[in-house]
Amino acid sequence: MKKIQISPSILSADFNQLGAEIKRLEEGGADLIHVDVMDGHFVPNLTIGPSVIKALKKNCSIKFDVHLMISPVHKYIEAYSDAGADIITIHPEATNNLTDSISKIKELKKKVGVSLNPETKVDIIKDHLDQIDLVLIMSVNPGFGGQKFMPEVLDKIKELKKIQKNQNIDFDIEIDGGINFENCKAAIKAGANILVSGTTIFKSNNGDIKKNIDLLKSI
Ligand code: DX5
Ligand code: ZN
Repeated sequence: MKKIQISPSILSADFNQLGAEIKRLEEGGADLIHVDVMDGHFVPNLTIGPSVIKALKKNCSIKFDVHLMISPVHKYIEAYSDAGADIITIHPEATNNLTDSISKIKELKKKVGVSLNPETKVDIIKDHLDQIDLVLIMSVNPGFGGQKFMPEVLDKIKELKKIQKNQNIDFDIEIDGGINFENCKAAIKAGANILVSGTTIFKSNNGDIKKNIDLLKSI
C-alpha cells in the first residue's frame, strides 16, 4: 500500500497572504501543494496564473501539484512548466489531442496528471493510463472549494485499481473535492493515495493546519 500523501488546496487559503500560507503548509507537513488554476471558461471561477505560481514557488521546497482547470489547455502547458509546476494535471475535455498534451508535459520533464470530473468515465483515458503518473478523481464538480463530497466517484477509483492490477501498471490516484476526516477513509479504502483538501485543512480545528494534516495522515 502506498504512503498516503496530503496535497492541501490553496484555493481555501487566505489569498491576502498566500506566501505565508504556503509556508504554514510546508511547516505543517504537506507533501504537495495543490494549486487550482481556473480560467472562468472551463469552470465558472477564475483564480491564479503562472506569474503567481512562479512567485510562490520561490520560497517553497515542496512540489507544486498544479491542477489546470483551463481550456484550451495545450498552449498553456509550457507556461505552467516554466512557472515551476512539478505535476501538471489536465482535463481530457480541455484538449483536442490528449496524447499530444501528455507528450508535451513529459517532454518538459514534468509529472503528468489527468483529471476526471464526476460525470467523466474512466474509459476516456484508459488508453493513456500507461503514459501518466497520476489520475485525479474529482469528487465535486470543479470550480469551488467547500462543496459536498460525491461518494459515487469512488467506483472509478476501484475501477482504476483493477486496471492497475490487470495491466501491471502504476500511477498515483488523487481525490479532490469535499474531502474530510470521515470520507477520506472510504477514499483510501477504494485506493486513493493522495488526498487533496482545502476547507478541511484550512478551516477545521480553528485553522490549525499542522493538526489537520496530521489527522488526515493518521487515518
Ligand atoms: C475544486 C478544486 C478542489 C477544491 C478542494 O474545483 O479542484 O481542489 O479546491 O477544496 P475542498 O477540499 O474545500 O473541497
Ligand atoms: Zn483541484
